[in-house]
Amino acid sequence: MNELPRLHADLFARHAALRERTRHVLGDADWAEHLPYVDAILSLKREKRAVILAHNYQAPEIFHGVADIVGDSLALAQRAVDVDADIIVMAGVHFMAETAKLLNPGRTVLIPDDAAGCSLAESITAADIRLLRQRYPGVPVVTYVNTSAEVKAESDICCTSANAVQVVESLGVPRVLFLPDQYLGQYVASKTRVEIILWQGSCEVHERFSGQQLRDYRQQLGPVHLLAHPECPQDVLAEADFVGSTAAMIHHLDRLRPPRVVMVTECSMSDNVAVQFPDIEFTRPCQLCPHMKRITLPGILAALEQTQHVVDVAPGIAAKARLAVQRMLDIGRREAA
Ligand code: 13P
Ligand code: SF4
Repeated sequence: MNELPRLHADLFARHAALRERTRHVLGDADWAEHLPYVDAILSLKREKRAVILAHNYQAPEIFHGVADIVGDSLALAQRAVDVDADIIVMAGVHFMAETAKLLNPGRTVLIPDDAAGCSLAESITAADIRLLRQRYPGVPVVTYVNTSAEVKAESDICCTSANAVQVVESLGVPRVLFLPDQYLGQYVASKTRVEIILWQGSCEVHERFSGQQLRDYRQQLGPVHLLAHPECPQDVLAEADFVGSTAAMIHHLDRLRPPRVVMVTECSMSDNVAVQFPDIEFTRPCQLCPHMKRITLPGILAALEQTQHVVDVAPGIAAKARLAVQRMLDIGRREAA
């Protein structure tokens, strides 16, 4: 046996449980490529007292191979608060890393690729919010977490797709500015009597789906359960059987266990969830988030090895932004109590 196959045989044996658990979505050829990185990342995590938080849109080799905590934007923010490791690596996009830093400022937060942005976060600036406040004096600003810390700092409260309606209604006001996702805002408006003033931002992944596409799935696939993310346009949501955040989609599948499913959201979501529900048949409508896909195993390894791509927020901004995120988390806590 030459060196390479022996190395692989050893890695394959040590990670047999991982390979078995993920065999529906990743084969031996995939793991031959990924396991050397997985192995190195797992040992470096122990050595450097690091934890990896991964969003539901991360590639399955990251989500299942190296992540310690996985979830939607809300869960990642909630869990980031209590992480007591020295280093948090955010396998997600930049606003998620910033949120982790806001909520746990004593930790070193790393993002494996600084350019992992978000079309929503780029659609609005702090100056835009200051202008909106002049135009709508006294109207509270509810800001989706998919924004920069500077934008959060100008906001009254944050929300995620999991709690947007709850957050808007918690304010007890007749109208709010809801920023920056016009489609999530339209979805919230359809669920509440509070008047929603919209901004024209959108997610470059979810805006590409259409209602016609969903009708086509039904026609081509026969009986199928369609789940859509509320960042999709309204004609998409009108065709869906269920609308919710990425975590809400998982809970819904867990409860209902439909035999055939299309998840109208980012591609990797279906791969990750298919591991949990091997009995469900997933048809994957492929819309990749180019920002989420900037995060790779080699990138995570390099970030850990060199403690590079540290995410920091200027103290003046951080204090105000933290308040907006904390207000959101407090609502969840009050409801749970
Ligand atoms: P959630 O996981 O909070 O539903 O967010 C989806 C998303 O697009 C994150 O960027
Ligand atoms: Fe932003 Fe959309 Fe990508 Fe999420 S999926 S990070 S909202 S561009």
